[in-house]
Amino acid sequence: MATIKEAVDISKEFNIPANKITEVFKLLDAVSICTLDGTIVHGQKIGGKLGFPTANLNLYTSKDCLKNGVYGVKVNLRGLTYYGVMNAGVKPTLNTNIQKTYEIHLFDFNQSIYGEEINVEVKFFIREEIKFSSINQLIQQIENDIMHVKYKFELQQMGKIGL
Ligand SMILES: Cc1cc2nc3c(=O)[nH]c(=O)nc-3n(C[C@H](O)[C@H](O)[C@H](O)COP(=O)(O)O)c2cc1C
Repeated sequence: MATIKEAVDISKEFNIPANKITEVFKLLDAVSICTLDGTIVHGQKIGGKLGFPTANLNLYTSKDCLKNGVYGVKVNLRGLTYYGVMNAGVKPTLNTNIQKTYEIHLFDFNQSIYGEEINVEVKFFIREEIKFSSINQLIQQIENDIMHVKYKFELQQMGKIGL
């Protein structure tokens, strides 16, 4: 997974113009691992207490295209597109959930969207789901995930505007 700094490093190391590296990310932006459709339902609401509210997706289909893990996602909601990070899995750290859930934290978003229909473009995988030995480790990891996914989307945006 490349951050902007890593893209610049790759550019220097292999003598590839930085705009070519961002071109690759632009192409990556055009593809999705899969798309998910569903409605937003109430979760256990622990996410908000941990500092990152999440929207829980109730899928229209039981067909599951994803292995458990954390993904960068683009969410289409009420005709607008938002970016976020999604955990698909059973939340093993909390041990309260045996059913797979799809939980999305949207960046810079604080509206109530319960009952809304959304379409999720799953853009890239960043890591497998982990059973952490403490909630603090989980929080720290989610903060890293958010930074990681934001950097990658930022890189794709750079490609899009031709930097
Ligand atoms: C980006 C992200 C990554 C997550 N990664 C993990 C993980 O690796 N292991 C885990 O047990 N739970 C993980 N979770 C799930 C959290 O435990 C969950 O968001 C929290 O329990 C709140 O759920 P709730 O709002 O439905 O109550 C992740 C959640 C998000 C948003």
